[in-house]
Amino acid sequence: MPGYFSKNTDGLKIDGVPAEEIAEEYGTPVYVYSEDRIRDNYRRLRDALKERYEKVRILFSAKSNTNLSILNILKDEGANIDTVSVGEIFLAKKAGFDPDEILFTGMNLGDDEIDHLLGSDVKINVNSLSMLDRLLEKEVPSSISFRVNLQKGAGAHRHLITAGKNSKFGILEDDIIKAYRKALDSGVKNFGIHTHIGSGILDTDHHRRATEKLMDIAGKVKEKLGIGFEFIDIGGGIGIPYEPGEEEMDLEKFSRDVLTAFKEKSAEHGLGDPYFCMEPGRYIIGDAGIILTEVNTVKKTVSRKLAGIDAGLHTFIRPAMYDAYHHMIHAEKSKGNVETEKYDIMGPLCESSDFLGKERELPEIQEGDMLAICDTGAYGFTMSSNYNSMIRPPEVLVSGDSHTAIRESEDFEDLEKKQKIAEWLG
Ligand SMILES: Cc1ncc(COP(=O)(O)O)c(C=O)c1O
Repeated sequence: MPGYFSKNTDGLKIDGVPAEEIAEEYGTPVYVYSEDRIRDNYRRLRDALKERYEKVRILFSAKSNTNLSILNILKDEGANIDTVSVGEIFLAKKAGFDPDEILFTGMNLGDDEIDHLLGSDVKINVNSLSMLDRLLEKEVPSSISFRVNLQKGAGAHRHLITAGKNSKFGILEDDIIKAYRKALDSGVKNFGIHTHIGSGILDTDHHRRATEKLMDIAGKVKEKLGIGFEFIDIGGGIGIPYEPGEEEMDLEKFSRDVLTAFKEKSAEHGLGDPYFCMEPGRYIIGDAGIILTEVNTVKKTVSRKLAGIDAGLHTFIRPAMYDAYHHMIHAEKSKGNVETEKYDIMGPLCESSDFLGKERELPEIQEGDMLAICDTGAYGFTMSSNYNSMIRPPEVLVSGDSHTAIRESEDFEDLEKKQKIAEWLG
């Protein structure tokens, strides 16, 4: 947990603001983000990359967090944005991103989505030969890139690996010349190339190897078709340490290894000086957010002590979906050295998988106490749901000593908003 979230005997603070103050004002559960930490994460990555190569573009991966205030912060920092749906394009534009700062990498598009996409003027990253044909039938975009399935992925969980022999993502190397040739013959003028091998990767070798492979494929396209690349995009995927004691990725090594490979391969294949692009989500926003949640139940099973909280898998699904570990902190004031006990932390849903943590060593928990679930800024709110007719929580942004709601809590009316009762039911 970075210094922006600090715990002492007075309880937990987010930057200069006590967690207690936030819980009192906005209720629990609540997502809380540190603006300084977001900016700091972005700048650290940008500086490490730019130190070795000037033409760097960082596209924030919107799927990790689409709150408009968060997008505004990243726009302000100079980020571009990676989107995977027309809904994300809508939000990116609302946050002020220009069409040429938006890259779209969605798949399985309906006809109206294709129309929307073409009408939105964003850069299009094509996921299949079928998608290319359907785009070209309607219009020739001025710029196209292809997502290549490098057939070797990596990731912190099998569901986080996005390349491989039977992956649903991207175009296989064997088809890539065909894809670029078709686009070229149809009159496309500007090209990029893209891959995204997976998420939660802490070992820098995976990205280095993916960069080398992608550059070799770009080289082949250049050699066969004479295409020059405006950008080469290696996707996102940089992991963050979720468990105490886990080492963070060595950013210096990452930047050195990946950009050395990029520059050497650029020279080897005569690719000139294309933009080097990355699409981090988790690295920018993951550890900049926490959930504050109140314990309302303490009970026992045959062999466990359970603490029941007001956040569940509807609030934050990563533990249930990916078996993900998210560290938890007892956010209350304490007297210093306190005894700890093991607890399973259960959510309120009628669902056996609704646990946010198992066997967590925590100071004695009383009903009414507050816990913080750490590193929940990425794939947190964007993956939340109304399952069990639960309402989604508010989101709060902290900047220094100030805080404000950047999304209000839903209420019961939201649960029925888009529903109607069939007329024949009276
Ligand atoms: C195409 C693409 N780019 C970027 C990302 C962001 O990944 P991460 O949050 O691991 O950096 C994803 C996540 O799945 C993705 O699918």
